[in-house]
Amino acid sequence: MSADDTIDPSRRDFLYIATGMAGVVGAGALAWPFIDQMRPDASTLALSSVEVDVSSLTPGMSLTVKWRGKPVFIRNRTPEEIEVAQKVSLNELKDPLARNANLTSDAPANDLDRSAGEGKENWLVMIGVCTHLGCIPLGQQGEYGGWFCPCHGSSYDTAGRIRKGPAPENMAVPVFSFISDTKIRVG
Ligand code: FES
Repeated sequence: MSADDTIDPSRRDFLYIATGMAGVVGAGALAWPFIDQMRPDASTLALSSVEVDVSSLTPGMSLTVKWRGKPVFIRNRTPEEIEVAQKVSLNELKDPLARNANLTSDAPANDLDRSAGEGKENWLVMIGVCTHLGCIPLGQQGEYGGWFCPCHGSSYDTAGRIRKGPAPENMAVPVFSFISDTKIRVG
């Protein structure tokens, strides 16, 4: 089966990249376990950090990397996505904390603190695991235009903040940094 057989043309912005492999798959809750089984790469699982070249991600594109056995979503957000997220006030949020491992634990979930920060607000890096029971949310879907978890219907916004459904927390932002203009180290 070629990757093209499984792709919804509207979702070509979703890339899966792991060590030694670059490919495009149909995104979704089902796609991840499938790929996971095909690539039971213990050395990848054990890596404490991964470096990701994001030079090919134009605004509106995402990729998913595997880090410590979990998917990490990296998205270059569009100006519209940023604007919508910036307009949300903290008291509209179900979880008002940034859940950003690069900041203090009480940092608020404003858009800047969810993103890669000043000057890099377009970059969103987060662990792609629903904070309800751990499914992998689908990107650019749901009521808030961010991520939607089909398992029990949780909707996240364009900053990965939980807005509706049973999930209790915003998707977690892992430790990461830009090691060059086009490379991110996660972990
Ligand atoms: Fe995502 Fe339940 S695991 S809504």
